[in-house]
Amino acid sequence: MFLIINRLTDRYLHFRWGLHVIVQVKNSMFEGEYAEILNILKDERNFDFYAYNPGMLERRIQNRIIRSGANSPKNYIELLKTDPAEPTHLIENFMINVSRFFRDPLSFEFLAKLLPPASFSAKLKRGDRSFRIWSAGCSHGEEPYSVAILLKEWMQHEKLALNVELFATDYDAIALAKARLGVFPADSIVDMKHGLVERYFRQNANGFFEVAPEIKAMVQFSEYDLLDHNSYVPSDSIFGEFDLVLCRNVLIYFNKEYQEFIFAKLHRALAIQGMLVLGESEIPVAQFGKKFRCECEHCKIYEKEQ
Ligand SMILES: C[S@@+](CC[C@H](N)C(=O)[O-])C[C@H]1O[C@@H](n2cnc3c(N)ncnc32)[C@H](O)[C@@H]1O
Repeated sequence: MFLIINRLTDRYLHFRWGLHVIVQVKNSMFEGEYAEILNILKDERNFDFYAYNPGMLERRIQNRIIRSGANSPKNYIELLKTDPAEPTHLIENFMINVSRFFRDPLSFEFLAKLLPPASFSAKLKRGDRSFRIWSAGCSHGEEPYSVAILLKEWMQHEKLALNVELFATDYDAIALAKARLGVFPADSIVDMKHGLVERYFRQNANGFFEVAPEIKAMVQFSEYDLLDHNSYVPSDSIFGEFDLVLCRNVLIYFNKEYQEFIFAKLHRALAIQGMLVLGESEIPVAQFGKKFRCECEHCKIYEKEQ
């Protein structure tokens, strides 16, 4: 095991919105060649590896050493220095973009049953029809498009005309470009019901599935880094007060301190009685546990209470 924790650094993470969160970030220091590999990424691409889960970084570097054909850390450093494309390949290897439409179908079924969130019902009584949603770490768009489909079905069933504001963000610009295109391979729709595929997709001549224009029009994609210290929501959403936030299969990539940092953002972004959906193996970080009520343990759906 080449990972040692040998240094503590105080990092002061400031939010422009006034709240000053002081996070003690344990700088997980890698020794020798692995430290050199990560430092090359830091210098060349400003990749903030301190934020990520060290075990995940370790496994991915080893994986890339093998896949690149370098076969040893020493050779791989040479490759990183000489091939300008290799730092990008390694960072891509860290950022797993795997996603599917209606991933964890049980969560989506339960979410449909819980609609609308209480925060939204309260607004509707006041005549405010804006339903605000944020999909944070949306990858190629499978998740926000799934939510758009779910909402479309629900609005049609309930005969509701709502002002849906669905923001979908990721910090990977390439993934977002694919998301905006809205064209997906067949394996990304395997979790979907046949009827929904028929209603909301068109299969093109190459066998790919194109999202219906009415669904595409519901989602606004933009670049946003969840580690950004200067904001707590994407700038095009202007303010938080979200009725529904999905941040699924993202927190698992970060170390404990940065999970807390991101979770503070999600909490702040949600309206009181808004709903939060996490990934299958994620739960609210300990210090926020009491601020959320669990709606469904298996589906990882929570309501913000305070
Ligand atoms: C495994 S995908 C999850 C996609 C989708 N939420 C789902 O559950 O299917 C993780 C996503 O998190 C994004 N991500 C990683 N670090 C990020 C960061 N600092 N800010 C925003 N997105 C990030 C990656 O680019 C990737 O698209």
